[in-house]
Amino acid sequence: TADMVKISLKSDPSKFCIMPQKYVEQDLERIKNMEIFEDDIWVVTYPKCGTTWTQEMIWMINNNLDYETSSKVQLSDRFPFLEWSGIIKNFTIDTFAECENQSRPRYIKSHLPLFLLPDQLWTVKPKIIYVARNPKDTVVSWFHHHRHLHCYQGTKEDFIEAFVKDLMLYSPMNDHILDFWKIRDESNILFLFFEDMKRNLDQEVKKAMKFLNKNYSQEEVDKLCKHLSFDSIKDNKMINKKEEIRMLKESAGEKFDPNEFSFVRKGQVGGYKKELSAGENEILDDYLKCLKFKDFDFEYKF
Ligand code: A3P
Repeated sequence: TADMVKISLKSDPSKFCIMPQKYVEQDLERIKNMEIFEDDIWVVTYPKCGTTWTQEMIWMINNNLDYETSSKVQLSDRFPFLEWSGIIKNFTIDTFAECENQSRPRYIKSHLPLFLLPDQLWTVKPKIIYVARNPKDTVVSWFHHHRHLHCYQGTKEDFIEAFVKDLMLYSPMNDHILDFWKIRDESNILFLFFEDMKRNLDQEVKKAMKFLNKNYSQEEVDKLCKHLSFDSIKDNKMINKKEEIRMLKESAGEKFDPNEFSFVRKGQVGGYKKELSAGENEILDDYLKCLKFKDFDFEYKF
């Protein structure tokens, strides 16, 4: 939309990110200069890569499987979204302050690319969990998100064109992922894939447990995997964002129909096959061919 701007890195203009002007005015500096603590827990992703799902997994593992609190407190309050107030028009809650003022350990979600995140992350080195997802499923999910939550009224093809031209909010996706892939072996980074979580959640839960220095019995892991299953997350009012969406829509004077759109939508790997026309799929194939991810020993999972 018209209020989006391109933020570039002065020392390397090829590094950029598309963000709303409001974010630049409000958050750019204070996020860059934010004080970081060693025990912070960050979940960072490009949007629609399984952020919410991962946040709940990480929060539960690091909180000794506290089902009671998880059933009473919204995930967005337990694990706030750093730059949200700089993204949503007319949003009055200061989510930066919410993140900053949490009791420790703080849980922070962000979709910012590495170069816009706080400088102290790279010196203090708290734990950062990064999640990647293949661009085809991601863009389809991002399209539905924009259509229902950001009043996008264009066609799917136009949306995909804008995505491959790196014009979408938080674009470019590939650089976002590669910047974290390059530092994946650092001891404070856990790099996960949506597709692995979908295909073998037990294994990914155990990876996250190891990363967070937590030990649970197989029975506890099984229970957690059930709690994190698609149907359970979709029905869970503390996680499925229905309440947040209702609040946002109503405060913007828009109609809220709980049956119209579910944030926890399909949750599939390869769901794009049923949703993209041959032409739309081809646009994404051409985009994938031009990306340099293979130079970095990185492959998307399909
Ligand atoms: P789809 O739109 O493809 O269904 P994010 O939280 O980063 O916005 O990601 C949202 C995507 O994660 C949505 O993808 C949503 O359905 C999916 N998701 C959320 N919880 C899930 C789960 N337990 N299992 C599989 N997918 C899940």
